[in-house]
Amino acid sequence: MDRTITVGDAAFYVRIEGQGSPLLLIHGYPLDHTMWDLMIPMLSARHTVIAPDLRGFGQSTGQRDEVSMQLFADDLAEMLAQLHPGEPVNACGLSMGGYILWQLWRRHSDRLSRLILMDTRAAADHEVQARARRENAAIVRREHLASIPKAMIPKLLSETTRRSLPHLAEVLQETILRQNPNAVAAAQIAMSYRVDVQSWLAEINKPTLVVCGEHDSISPPEEMRQFAEQIRGARFAEIPGAGHLPPLESPQMTCEAILRFTER
Ligand code: MLT
Repeated sequence: MDRTITVGDAAFYVRIEGQGSPLLLIHGYPLDHTMWDLMIPMLSARHTVIAPDLRGFGQSTGQRDEVSMQLFADDLAEMLAQLHPGEPVNACGLSMGGYILWQLWRRHSDRLSRLILMDTRAAADHEVQARARRENAAIVRREHLASIPKAMIPKLLSETTRRSLPHLAEVLQETILRQNPNAVAAAQIAMSYRVDVQSWLAEINKPTLVVCGEHDSISPPEEMRQFAEQIRGARFAEIPGAGHLPPLESPQMTCEAILRFTER
């Protein structure tokens, strides 16, 4: 079912499917809710899946020149307040979606029952990475998105995936090219200024699952395993053969890891 939820100046597109305890899926950069498409049939057999497009992405409006992980988190909290008032939800964020999930936990902890951090980082960027992001954002503002798929797809999909599922590169290219360049540039700049949350890890008091593709080069398993060890009782699941996007590269195994965790 497609819904539109109005929060302040933005109309959010949200795909809602299934029945059971709510499960919010927060997409990564520079994508939209369709990155969850292959998992929604399996997850929605057990959960009410809530898959929004973030502000300015996909079919959601409200694009701003300046955004932040905090703003995205506040948008989602308000959306959850409208959809499931008083009921904490399971929430899963991939990569930039994970950066947003840290903020959702920090700012709106009462809205969350469980955290699933997927192919994401707790550390902030080094200055060199941050500067590269801001340069990249300037290029996107000037020249739009044409150069992004070629630069990003080899980092998003593992070599194994690119060989065994070659159509996924085309799917991702289409997804990236239909995004609003200004929203993409603003999110890139926002990620360059995101805070380092490593000092928060010991305070996390919700059941947590950390999921990582075996060959993820953006948020590698060693780094994710290390931060998972600092979250009390967190479980860790590695998805064999996958890169940065297990929901597309290995949807079945990723769903199984999520459901094993949410059904505990
Ligand atoms: C994402 O998948 O959301 C991005 O790769 C995050 C990032 O660039 O740090």
